[in-house]
Amino acid sequence: MTKSTTFATFLIEIFTLIMAKYNFDLCIDRHGTQCKKIEVLKQDYGRDDLLPLWIADMDFAVCPEITQALVRRLADHPIYGYTCTYDAYWQSIIDWQRRRNGFDFTRDEVTFVAGIVTGLGLAVNFFTRPDDKIVIQQPVYHPFKDVIAGNGRVMVDNPLLPDQAGLYRMDLEGLERIFEHEHPRMLVLCNPHNPAGIAWPVDVLRQVARLAHKHGVIIFSDEIFGDLMLYGHKHTPMATVSDEAAAVTVTCGAPSKTFNIAGLKSSWCVVKNPELRQPFFRWIETNELCNANMTSIIATEAAYRHGEQWLDECLHYIEGNIDLIVQYCRQHLPGIVAVKPQAGFLMWLDCTGLGLEHEQVVDLFVNQARLALNEGSMFGPAGRCHMRLNVGTPRAVIQQALQRLHAALGS
Ligand SMILES: Cc1ncc(COP(=O)(O)O)c(C=O)c1O
Repeated sequence: MTKSTTFATFLIEIFTLIMAKYNFDLCIDRHGTQCKKIEVLKQDYGRDDLLPLWIADMDFAVCPEITQALVRRLADHPIYGYTCTYDAYWQSIIDWQRRRNGFDFTRDEVTFVAGIVTGLGLAVNFFTRPDDKIVIQQPVYHPFKDVIAGNGRVMVDNPLLPDQAGLYRMDLEGLERIFEHEHPRMLVLCNPHNPAGIAWPVDVLRQVARLAHKHGVIIFSDEIFGDLMLYGHKHTPMATVSDEAAAVTVTCGAPSKTFNIAGLKSSWCVVKNPELRQPFFRWIETNELCNANMTSIIATEAAYRHGEQWLDECLHYIEGNIDLIVQYCRQHLPGIVAVKPQAGFLMWLDCTGLGLEHEQVVDLFVNQARLALNEGSMFGPAGRCHMRLNVGTPRAVIQQALQRLHAALGS
């Protein structure tokens, strides 16, 4: 970097700090708030004296307009009867997706679902039959395989291939082989990809869509991290890359990760192709699976209408956490490579350089450093000797975690 770009970066940092409206440094005690991240530590990790850096929600206060909208509704009116969605709610989703991601859809093409995994369960049950094959690409968000197996479908893995940056690339030849020889009904795509936070390139998505279209495979595209793009990366919604993609894709997205409202269970599902959409949405409606919870729609509209600056500042803060971790690992934890994500607030730590067995790595983090991360093998075999770190937390917590890890490695 030249002197002038360093100075320019410095000026941008100062300007950003002066203009910042929200305080992401604030440490908020989440005890007593039904916070899963804390409450299940003893049950899942065997001890509760751990810094919780696992499940994917953030420790930041949501943007105040969300809280105000909820309080206004819950405190100012004493009846919480049956609730319906309303035009401004749908329009807030449509406007946000068009403006931020270039994803164009109409009111008819979108429905409510109470969570992305719920949406996946609905799609699996509607579009596939027991014993049908469904492809995933591990290491990947672990409920994908659980939904497939739990519904009596057969999971086929097309493992991702490691690339030089410590991220992964898709094995398109492997995918084509599976489509040709195993005749799966569905591919579950994680776009952007969790873990590791990969923004899939447009040409890769286009090739996947071409193959899926050719072989009659439906793509379920989980785009929950699509609004959490880092370092200038752009999110490409799968359904936008080609006509073939639009014809075969069922997209689920949400404001839940983006605005830290996962507990409210608010997601949406878009299907462009009427041949897929009409029977699917009719089935969802008949079974009242799209009946939204009152708080979820209120928070969603407030987030999409008023949350843009909060989100931009949040992403900037997350990038600061990531940069700190990458730097610290390079300097002080040479056996651990912290992979810089392109999206999301989950970092993939490659711990193979420690020369330990996977179980020893987990023991190091949990019992010696007293940190609760997700152990990598839950995402698939390639996740052995990897840990997934949630960096959506105040910097002081990150600093404490790094110091604990350093001390544990030193001992
Ligand atoms: C890729 C991915 N999809 C879906 C979810 C869960 O979404 P929901 O709570 O809406 O089911 C997560 C949560 O971590 C995730 O990482």
